Amino acid sequence: VPSGIPKITTHPHRNVVEKDQNTIMVCSASGNPEPHITWFKDSIPVDLTDPRLTLLESGTLHIRESNTSDEGLYECMAENELGSAYSYPGQLTVYVRGEGI
Ligand SMILES: *[C@@H]1O[C@H](CO)[C@@H](O)[C@H](O)[C@H]1NC(C)=O
Repeated sequence: VPSGIPKITTHPHRNVVEKDQNTIMVCSASGNPEPHITWFKDSIPVDLTDPRLTLLESGTLHIRESNTSDEGLYECMAENELGSAYSYPGQLTVYVRGEGI
């Protein structure tokens, strides 16, 4: 078995953020060659052209000025030419102050 197949080393976890605050959904993976990380929200690829969203070098997704539209189940996928691995999903909840969760 080749040793370089991607493996998720940090899975995204449940996270709660207040609307308009910044937050992260963590993900990291090992593999050789270094795996490329892709994020999915509710099984749809996350739109990294949204200027509020940044994929950090580690694989973690940084979300600026969270909006209720960011709520959902986040999963990361690590991929290189040897294969791919999916993380467990982690739920992001965005609450609006005064409205409760
Ligand atoms: C924030 O979320 C609401 C509800 O989903 C949406 O209508 C609105 O367009 C979003 N605003 C931004 C800046 O994305």
